Amino acid sequence: MSDIRLIDTHSHIDMIEQISLEDVLYNAAANNVEKIILPCAYPADIDKIMDITEKYDNIYAYLGVHPSEARDWNDGLVDKIEKYVSLSKKVVGIGEIGLDYYWDKSFNDIQKEVFIKQILLANKLNLPINIHDREAHKDCFDIIQEYNQNSTVIMHCFSGSVEFARECIKSGYYIAIGGVVTFKNAVKIKDVAADIPLDRLLLETDAPYLTPVPYRGKENQPAYVKYVAEEIAQLRGMTIEDIASATTQNAERIFKF
Ligand code: NI
Repeated sequence: MSDIRLIDTHSHIDMIEQISLEDVLYNAAANNVEKIILPCAYPADIDKIMDITEKYDNIYAYLGVHPSEARDWNDGLVDKIEKYVSLSKKVVGIGEIGLDYYWDKSFNDIQKEVFIKQILLANKLNLPINIHDREAHKDCFDIIQEYNQNSTVIMHCFSGSVEFARECIKSGYYIAIGGVVTFKNAVKIKDVAADIPLDRLLLETDAPYLTPVPYRGKENQPAYVKYVAEEIAQLRGMTIEDIASATTQNAERIFKF
């Protein structure tokens, strides 16, 4: 385990409350996490996120507006995001963007509209898109298929069936898997983790949420991405070294690290 390299491709390290950011990064490094991508959820957080990426070499960002915050979108954000992309090499994608029908279905139309605008922005900037899809598989997929031209698609915290995963793979998407795969009853995602081609797999924590076993229920952090890798290795009858090297190579290829 000493010489493996892991990348946490979706981690809200700015939202971890119980330990300092310095400790988060210390623990990550001590557990072979080489790079972390920090996604943006709230428009008001864009500047703060960019400050963090400027301060730490191994932290990168997705800029964008989460579907649950779609009502806070304004078109001025396009200029703001474009400006940061032109000024900094640390923006590696547009995210997290997509549809969330779990928390609130009352503004689906606004969610869709803001999702499409951000796909078009990513296409223009030629950046990957990091997709949040919660109970909205069909609409998410249909919108991406209709509007996305050239952005690499990453399905963050994948929660669909094996059939949906295969559909996504066929369309060239990547599947990112987090701590849920370690949950005893999470049969669906275990099946997906065992089924998808290794060259389409990415690891993430979605910290501070969705903490893997054995820390389930506690606050999540990037250091725990190794438990995700271990579980997937076990499900596939491989070693953690195999999973780490494949997923890190995938991330390096997608994000041009
Ligand atoms: Ni997230």
